[in-house]
Amino acid sequence: MADFETIINTRRSIRQYQDKEVEDEKILKILKAGMQAPGSRLGAEPWEFVVIKDKDTLAKLAEIKPRVKTAPVAILLVANIERAFYKLHWQQDMSAAAENMLLEAVNLGLGGLWNGVAPTEETMDKVAELFGLDNENQKPFCIITLGYPADGLKNKFMDKFDEERIHYEKY
Ligand SMILES: Cc1cc2nc3c(=O)[nH]c(=O)nc-3n(C[C@H](O)[C@H](O)[C@H](O)COP(=O)(O)O)c2cc1C
Repeated sequence: MADFETIINTRRSIRQYQDKEVEDEKILKILKAGMQAPGSRLGAEPWEFVVIKDKDTLAKLAEIKPRVKTAPVAILLVANIERAFYKLHWQQDMSAAAENMLLEAVNLGLGGLWNGVAPTEETMDKVAELFGLDNENQKPFCIITLGYPADGLKNKFMDKFDEERIHYEKY
């Protein structure tokens, strides 16, 4: 387990993975981290998750989002609007969960990637069709791919700090 500062600062988008399974316990921890995220209304968060390990399904998903290609596991984040209290806030709710999941992946020695789905309607429609979502109430938000980073790739610090973006007291 890494310390929090290290996790935050070394997280990188990892787009290629080793051909090695991700342990179920790690997947569960990542799902739990997602559900620990802040949400627009406690107890009425829209998030649901589809864990995909089946090679055929991953291959079909990779036709929509190519970065899925080498991932041993992908997690589709679905916003179930019927669960939500603040129905317009689903993208924020889902984003908070997604980031928590990516950070937990780093903590567990994995690489992860946020593969965007929403708000691109064409991509949402394709993913909804593949998983039989109604797309009105069950909105595919993103796909988090996970795995052990391929050779030469790892989570590492990259300085993204930019002082010019900080304003004190007034803009
Ligand atoms: C909303 C969102 C959508 C993204 N979609 C994709 C994507 O479809 N494909 C991809 O390779 N990376 C995607 N990314 C990852 C970004 O490209 C990545 O976070 C960015 O380049 C910064 O690199 P870093 O994550 O290593 O800091 C997405 C990130 C976010 C937040």
